[in-house]
Amino acid sequence: MKQSKRHRIAVIGLGMRLGMFLRAAHAEGWDYELAGHVDPSPVGAPLLAEQGIEAGVAYPDVAALLADGPFDLVMIGSPNHLHLEHLRATLDHPGPIFIEKPIVRTEAESFEAARLIRERGDGRVFVGLVARSAPIVRAALERLDAGAIGDIVSIDATEHLPPAHGAYLARNWRRRAEWGGSYMLDKVCHDFDILRRMIGARPTRVASFGGRRIFTPESAKVARDEGPAILRRLSGWNAAPDTSGADMDVTDHQVAIVEYANGVRLSFHSNTCAAVAERRWNLVGTRGVLTIDLVQNTLAITPLEPRGTIEQFRWRGPAGDSHGGADQAMAHDLVAALEGERAFPVSVTASLVAGLTVMAIDRALAEDRIVDCAPLWASLDSAEAGVAA
Ligand SMILES: NC(=O)c1ccc[n+]([C@@H]2O[C@H](COP(=O)([O-])OP(=O)(O)OC[C@H]3O[C@@H](n4cnc5c(N)ncnc54)[C@H](O)[C@@H]3O)[C@@H](O)[C@H]2O)c1
Repeated sequence: MKQSKRHRIAVIGLGMRLGMFLRAAHAEGWDYELAGHVDPSPVGAPLLAEQGIEAGVAYPDVAALLADGPFDLVMIGSPNHLHLEHLRATLDHPGPIFIEKPIVRTEAESFEAARLIRERGDGRVFVGLVARSAPIVRAALERLDAGAIGDIVSIDATEHLPPAHGAYLARNWRRRAEWGGSYMLDKVCHDFDILRRMIGARPTRVASFGGRRIFTPESAKVARDEGPAILRRLSGWNAAPDTSGADMDVTDHQVAIVEYANGVRLSFHSNTCAAVAERRWNLVGTRGVLTIDLVQNTLAITPLEPRGTIEQFRWRGPAGDSHGGADQAMAHDLVAALEGERAFPVSVTASLVAGLTVMAIDRALAEDRIVDCAPLWASLDSAEAGVAA
C-alpha cells in the first residue's frame, strides 16, 4: 500500500469486527501502529494477538485516549447504541474517523449525526459499509452504470443466514433493539445501501412483515447448530448465555417491500436460520437480468435477447475470509482516503439513507402500515444543509 508514513491509529470498541478487519488489513500491508484502545473487555484483542499485533495502551475512557492524540485515524467499533456518543466525542479530535455500520441506530440519531458531521466532521468521517468495497459489487456497479441490463424495473433480494450465524445474533447484543437497533438494520443496511446506489433513487414508501419464530424459549429445545466454539466464546459484550431468545426483542425473520422514487420496486426476504444460506440480489431490467450471489461470490448478466451471450464471473476471496475480499479491498480504500489519493467509496449521506430506509421498514412493521419516506428525507436534507426541517 502507498503510504507517506506509518499510521498511528486508536480504537474505541475493539470487538470482533475491528479485530478481524485490522488483522486482514495488516496482512494486506497497511503499515499501522495501534497506539491504544478504549474497551471494557476487548473481544477482538485475541484476534490481533494471534497475528502478533499489539493492541496498545488500554485507556479508561475516550477523553483519556483522545488526550494522547493526535492519531492518523480513530476507529469506532462499539455496539450500535454507543456509535453516536462515540462519534460526538471523537469529533473533538481533529483527524479522520472511521465508524462501523450502521452509523447510528435511530431516526433521531441519524439527524443528529448528520448535523454533527456537517458542523464538525465534514469530509473526514468514513463509514464501514464494507460491501461497497467488495470486488463483485464494484464490478456489478460498473456494468449497471454502463447499461448492461437497461433500466432496472424490479428487484428481488434475499439474506438467509446459516443456523450458526443466526445463533450468534441471538446470543450477541444484537438480540435487543436498545443495543443493536434491529435485526435488519444491523445485518442488511449493506444491502439497502448498495441496492439504493444501483437503483439511483431513494425509497418513497415501504411495508414490512416479520417477527420471531426461531429463537424463542419454546423452540430452544430443538437441537440446533450453535456454531463453532470460538463463536460461542466470542459472543461479546452483554452476550446471553444461550440462544433461547428469552430476552430477545428483534425479529429473526422479516420481509419488506420498497418502492423507489424512480418507480423501481423491490422485495427483500431475510431469515436467520436457513438450511441453505443465501444472499442474492436479482435485478430485472428492461434489457436483461443481473444476479449477484454473495454466498457463491458469483455475478451473472443474462441479456433479454435470446441469442445474447450470458456472462458469468466468480471471485475468490482470501482463504478464511467471509466477506469475499471486501475487508482487504476496504483496507486499500481506507488508506487511499487517508492519504488523500481517492474518495472513500461510500459517503456519510449514503450510509444515513441506508440506515433510515431500514428504520422506515421497521417502523412499517411496528406500526402495521405503509410508511411514507418523504418526511425522513426532508429531515435528513435539512440536517445536512443546516436548516430547520
Ligand atoms: N462491516 C461489517 O461487515 C460488520 C461486521 C460485524 C460488525 N459490524 C459492526 O461493528 C460494530 C461492532 O460489532 P462486533 O461484531 O465487533 O461486536 P462485538 O461485541 O464483538 O464488539 C463490540 C466491542 O465493543 C466493546 N464495548 C462495549 N461497550 C463499550 C464502551 N462503552 N466503550 C468502548 N467499547 C465498548 C465490547 O467490549 C466489545 O469488545 C457494530 O457496530 C457492528 O454493527 C460491522
